[in-house]
Amino acid sequence: MDLSVPSVISQPVVAALTRSAMFLVVTINPGSGPEETVRGLCADLSALLRAVGFRDLEGNLSCVMAFGSVAWDRLFDGPRPKELHPFREIRGVHHAVSTPGDILFHIRATKRMDLCFELARQIMLRLDGAVTAIDEVHGFNYFDDRDLIGFVDGTENPAGPDALKAAIIGDEDADFAGGSYVIVQKYLHDLAGWEKVPVEQQENIVGRYKLSDIEQADTVKKPYAHNVLTSITEDGEPVDILRDNMPFGKVGTAEFGTYFIGYCRTPRRIERMLENMFIGSPPGNYDRLLDFSRAVTGSLFFVPTASFLDAVTAEKPEAELTAPEPVPAPAPSRPSGDGSLGIGSLKEEAGHE
Ligand code: HEM
Repeated sequence: MDLSVPSVISQPVVAALTRSAMFLVVTINPGSGPEETVRGLCADLSALLRAVGFRDLEGNLSCVMAFGSVAWDRLFDGPRPKELHPFREIRGVHHAVSTPGDILFHIRATKRMDLCFELARQIMLRLDGAVTAIDEVHGFNYFDDRDLIGFVDGTENPAGPDALKAAIIGDEDADFAGGSYVIVQKYLHDLAGWEKVPVEQQENIVGRYKLSDIEQADTVKKPYAHNVLTSITEDGEPVDILRDNMPFGKVGTAEFGTYFIGYCRTPRRIERMLENMFIGSPPGNYDRLLDFSRAVTGSLFFVPTASFLDAVTAEKPEAELTAPEPVPAPAPSRPSGDGSLGIGSLKEEAGHE
């Protein structure tokens, strides 16, 4: 009897906090040629990452490559991630738009934006003529991990095993265990309007104190506070998502934004949070942050494992890739110090959860 546990390597979804990030969303051009080019990049991404990341190992360069629902069907045959669908717009008190996006590259480095930039450049050189860039955001770290509305962003993010449990698919979709879903939204802030709001009221909107970043007591918190509306439960238990929001902007044109990125083992959790924010819970009790922050993009992607990407061939084989064998637990996703996509294996983490 073969007792060995199959080794499936996740992409670095759970990467360490970084000071620089690029969010690149592209669509695949019409025709079948572009598909071959994109598939060709899939298996080579780890080598590109190694080459650029090796120039400064302490930069901890990482890249997550994720696919939209329509692109998935164009690129791959065989089983399909169970919950992959296009981002569903929400029309509530405010509007969460759904915008095009076939592939997301989420590129992070602990300090150096040049590493992110060079990897993005190499990726686009490989994809030349095959894709059209729809959105490109260069995010930066702003003081004590604050967003441009002045609040520390990310404090309640799950860490370590909790992050894996929140973000990485387990045996609920055994063909895609070790993968993840990701939703991105680009928000633009009316910073001038926000800054006219008294700090105490801003704190009620977020549900935390601005300077200290301490959470308001439940007796003080307003029902519409951002952290009330984004706290959800499943079967009575609180459940998490993994966020890695980044500020971005252009002072010359008064563009001030937060790029929201949320990873989760199921997109449903993020969708429920969005419904609470945009429609309200109960309806009408919506997130007041949205009176000052407008979502101008919205897309949902699936993050296959690095093992899956490595096995993609430029030409579509008759019988598509065999998906990784069912495994009992999510994969760990710490980026390796060598800049490779390998961030651990289910073998090491079997039994976790
Ligand atoms: C304009 C866009 C947004 C801004 C500026 C923003 C900012 C913040 C801030 C300052 C916090 C408190 C600190 C922390 O725990 O991180 C927070 C918490 C949180 N946000 Fe957002 N956020 C945005 C959009 C979103 C969206 C779209 C979602 C989900 C769909 C979301 C989900 C959460 C969650 C789950 C928490 C933690 C709640 C808790 O457990 O206390 N945020 N956000």
